[in-house]
Amino acid sequence: MRIISAKDYQDVSRKAANIIASQVILKPNCVLGLATGSSPVGTYQQLIAKYEAGELDFSQVRTVNLDEYVGLTADHDQSYAYFMRHNLFDHVNIDQANTNIPCGVEPDAEKECARYDAVIESMGGVDLQLLGLGPNGHIGFNEPCDEFVPGTHRVELTEATINANARFFESMDDVPRFAYTMGIRGIMQADKVLMVVNGANKAQAVKDCFFGSVTPQAPGSILQLHKNFTLVADEAALSLVKDLL
Ligand code: GLP
Repeated sequence: MRIISAKDYQDVSRKAANIIASQVILKPNCVLGLATGSSPVGTYQQLIAKYEAGELDFSQVRTVNLDEYVGLTADHDQSYAYFMRHNLFDHVNIDQANTNIPCGVEPDAEKECARYDAVIESMGGVDLQLLGLGPNGHIGFNEPCDEFVPGTHRVELTEATINANARFFESMDDVPRFAYTMGIRGIMQADKVLMVVNGANKAQAVKDCFFGSVTPQAPGSILQLHKNFTLVADEAALSLVKDLL
């Protein structure tokens, strides 16, 4: 585990984008595992800027996203499919046929999860997986629970996550209660994992996940066992562990 301390959100985003850019330069047809949430937005903005400056070519890049809300169509403005188009795909020269996100409106969970695991496998695995961290330590939508779930699965969101994500919806009732998420195996099998974290509201999750025991109650803690895991976090997110660095 490598921890890179950044000054603030801008600095986190710049550092993370540089790491992703080097992946794309080294392997133009790489598979990027992508994340949603507010944490990676700045990273995506930096990648778009690099593309616009002629420094990056996404034409051969393939992507696989972590998760999607159950019940939202790809056109819904809070779906993760919409998020990815709006925050990255529409602004770079990626072939959108090479981008993958679980289908939120497939009602047969078993079928959709099996399909998505097959997609990940058919791509030959993920070269670099980008992650955010939920305030309760979740990664993707792998919520705190009694055991790590390996494959893509349908998950019931915890109250904490519903509350944390409510800010993006008009009312509490509009927040989806279920999601499809890549499982822990999909994340751990990536060659490299890069997590971006900022803000004091993540400080406890950072401490629990990376300075405590490996436990499914703090899902991000599994990354302590990953062979090539890099955490880029700002000073606020590292505030509870600064004496341990
Ligand atoms: C959602 C996503 C996660 C993300 C988390 C944190 O629950 N499924 O992938 O890491 O939110 O979001 P934010 O970055 O907005 O704090």
